[in-house]
Amino acid sequence: EEIFMDKSSKTGYTYDDIICLPGQISFGVHDVTLESNFTKKITLKTPLVSSPMDTVTEARMAIGMALEGGIGVIHNNMSIEDQVEEVTKVKKYKSGFITDPICVKPTTALAELDEVRSTCGFTGFPVTSDGRMGSKLLGLVTRRDCDFVSDRRGTSVSQVMTKVDELVTAEEGVELQAANDIIHRTKKGKLPIVSKTGFLVALIARTDLKKNAEYPLATKDANKQLRVAASIGTRPEDRTRATALVAAGVDAIVVDSSQGDSAFQHDIVRWMKQQFPDLQVIGGNVVTKRQAKHLIDSGVDALRVGMGIGSICTTQEVCACGRAQASAIYNVARFAKKYGVPVIADGGIGSPGHIVKALCMGANVAMCGSLLAGTEESPGDFFFQNGVRLKRYRGMGSLDAMKKGSDDRYFGSAASIKVAQGVSGSVQDKGSLRSYVPYLVQGVKHGLQDIGAQSAEQLRAQLYSGELRFELRSAAAQREGGVHGLHSFERKLFK
Ligand code: XMP
Repeated sequence: EEIFMDKSSKTGYTYDDIICLPGQISFGVHDVTLESNFTKKITLKTPLVSSPMDTVTEARMAIGMALEGGIGVIHNNMSIEDQVEEVTKVKKYKSGFITDPICVKPTTALAELDEVRSTCGFTGFPVTSDGRMGSKLLGLVTRRDCDFVSDRRGTSVSQVMTKVDELVTAEEGVELQAANDIIHRTKKGKLPIVSKTGFLVALIARTDLKKNAEYPLATKDANKQLRVAASIGTRPEDRTRATALVAAGVDAIVVDSSQGDSAFQHDIVRWMKQQFPDLQVIGGNVVTKRQAKHLIDSGVDALRVGMGIGSICTTQEVCACGRAQASAIYNVARFAKKYGVPVIADGGIGSPGHIVKALCMGANVAMCGSLLAGTEESPGDFFFQNGVRLKRYRGMGSLDAMKKGSDDRYFGSAASIKVAQGVSGSVQDKGSLRSYVPYLVQGVKHGLQDIGAQSAEQLRAQLYSGELRFELRSAAAQREGGVHGLHSFERKLFK
């Protein structure tokens, strides 16, 4: 243990340098629980957080993460209005209810409808007075309504649709189970949900029924709405942003800065804690006890730890500043624990094993960028390169991202020369969070089982009692711990 301590070590170690020694197993892998604090007042059943980056977390990712028991931090490289809209989408989300269905106008010609259908792939569309969601529902038009119409330019939707008085609808406030029962009973493909006054508020699709399973781990607030976090910067105008995010119902705000121990950050943290006593405020990033102390004194509810160690980071190369991640977490977490402040291990996570090691170093939860980029839920479209399906992933300190305004994270907004502290690249397709997060979680549970800790809480207790043991790995040991000696191999992650 001494190897990690600030005073006795002049070497920084990271995840790959260390290996945990196994303990004794007296429980099954399914008995392992991972519940951990994200902040002083928010706990997660899955200790995973998606990074506030513009190729990682917008509403879809935040919804997916919260459903799987983690949480997403919506990035702030967009206007205040756009960020508020993303937060609102998460807070308004109701599993199984489509709250932004594509609608059409009664005057839309069938030819036009054919085009919409071919681009979005849906078969049935609600018809509303002005073709928008939230307006008066007039009917529903499905493929069968249009099948034998030959004059597709001259025929409008209103001539073929099923009119609202013949439609099966459900009233706003209906529970998902009851709505699903109606779909089963009536054998309908789509069930519009309408307000008392007949305005369309949501839609349920028969094809989604199977997907509408329960999410027992979901991260929810007292009103049963999904929880969501959002990031802000440290400029004066970020106070306006924070106020708007709080009004939209955000649960936590992350002050996003590569070097968190700044007077700007101390000021905005103090201001938020004073203005919004119920809001959870996360400060960072920090890698030393001294930095952590200053932010804890300002009142943060959690600390984000990591500097220059992310997969897309060049901060250590450019600024010669940062710290190897295992040492950073170990020292900050041991210190923050005395104040009851949880620690978020941010960056450098490339496998479930790295998450286990982050928890072993004392982190409460892990924040991931590259690991979650390239899922269906991350922003951007997939593309192919040399036959491999990819999505773009870029550092918020890359020139590309800074052009859009993220330079404040690196205190570069007033500078005439923009110095990149990150790169822009791509990552491989990982499918949906729906299967990917459970794979990560199961991997972490296996890790805790091998160590002999039945919960994340117990793991931390073992760390601080000295029961948990580590070794450093030599370069040869690291090679030995990876796949080696094969001519070729194929890596499949899970089934
Ligand atoms: P991973 O390794 O998960 O790292 O991809 C994500 C974390 O990296 C940080 N980040 C950056 N750091 N330059 C940096 O030095 C950058 O351009 C950059 N962009 C993101 C951030 O903490 C994120 O959560």
